[in-house]
Amino acid sequence: MKWIASAAFGMEGLTGRDLKRLGAQNINVLNVGGASFEGDLALGMQANLWLRTADHVHLLVAEFDARSFDELFEDVRAIPWADYISSEGAFPVRAHCVKSTLMSPSDCQSITKKAIAERLGASYGLKTLPETAETVQIDVNIRQDHVTVSLDASGEPLSKRGYRTWNGEAPLRETLAAALILTSSWHPWQPLYDPCCGTGTLLIEAAFIALGRAPGLRRAFAMEQWGFVDKQLLEQKRREAVSRYDECAVRKIDIAGSDIDPNAIELAKRHVRQAGLGSRIELNVADLRDITLSGEPGWIIANPPYGERIGDRRVAHAVARQLGEMSRRCPGWSVAAFSADMGFEREFGQRASRRRRFYNGKIECELHMFESVKPHISGGKK
Ligand SMILES: C[S@@+](CC[C@H](N)C(=O)[O-])C[C@H]1O[C@@H](n2cnc3c(N)ncnc32)[C@H](O)[C@@H]1O
Repeated sequence: MKWIASAAFGMEGLTGRDLKRLGAQNINVLNVGGASFEGDLALGMQANLWLRTADHVHLLVAEFDARSFDELFEDVRAIPWADYISSEGAFPVRAHCVKSTLMSPSDCQSITKKAIAERLGASYGLKTLPETAETVQIDVNIRQDHVTVSLDASGEPLSKRGYRTWNGEAPLRETLAAALILTSSWHPWQPLYDPCCGTGTLLIEAAFIALGRAPGLRRAFAMEQWGFVDKQLLEQKRREAVSRYDECAVRKIDIAGSDIDPNAIELAKRHVRQAGLGSRIELNVADLRDITLSGEPGWIIANPPYGERIGDRRVAHAVARQLGEMSRRCPGWSVAAFSADMGFEREFGQRASRRRRFYNGKIECELHMFESVKPHISGGKK
């Protein structure tokens, strides 16, 4: 079976790396939009459970070129839809068109729907399809006249892990937070501190990585409702992920954070509880100007305010300066700071040793890494 794990710009390589770890075959990291791979239904479930940086997992059912509605209709009708959708199954269709002859998503959506209905009607000998049972969401993507038809195996975006139910000021998407942690050279046995932790996303994602916790452990996936899958097989993959977490949950972690805003810390505490991490992450209200970290050094990883609006830029620059001063008070600690501010390094007072570009929604940002020369192998108390 061929699958596509969609991922935002900059995260495709990390998604490919995670897929390799899961044992996926023929992984192809795409220039735009993620990575394709091959594997059975169990692997599709594992991808849903374990991919930290992907948005969706799709099962690819056909790909072809189409420049007219007739071609689209014929090629979609040629797919053996009864293999995927029961006689009572619902099959909503979403269409997306980029730089193609067929540029109307609503027309492509209705033509695809009609072609599937015709094929299913013929297979089941039905004139009308009730669409009252399980839902199989179908996606039609047309890019430069190349069409991919796929089933959405995830449902809600994979960034929705289930722990974040309250949003604070500009929280990071969970997939992006995981990508930032994975891009830094932080090792799970090292201390990690976020001095602008907001609602706690970076800290929770770091704890998931350190504790071997599948990010999708506590949520459902669309493919678990598909009629043609072996539900026990999928359940077994979920149980394996639970056992892995049970094995790793005893690991000692040193992950903590603070924020100047007491409301943000309240939200962070709720999210940590919702994530089932109880007292594993230490959280405090603090101004980063008052923080000095001592003990075994590790990584300071933060997403300080960007200053997107003109009036906020002064505040963003001040926080960048304060972060630079904090880093100089904490010798041996490395810093990874995620910011959209082009002047970030100037304010921080140091050139980054490494940089990586990501998008936060539509905002182009960089992860600026200031690595301390000495690598630290063992963990310790701050
Ligand atoms: C972009 S938000 C961080 C969002 C966070 N990563 C999340 O996912 O929720 C920036 C945070 O920096 C905090 N902040 C601003 N100035 C600060 C300071 N001097 N000390 C500590 N935190 C500060 C803000 O209260 C805000 O929560």
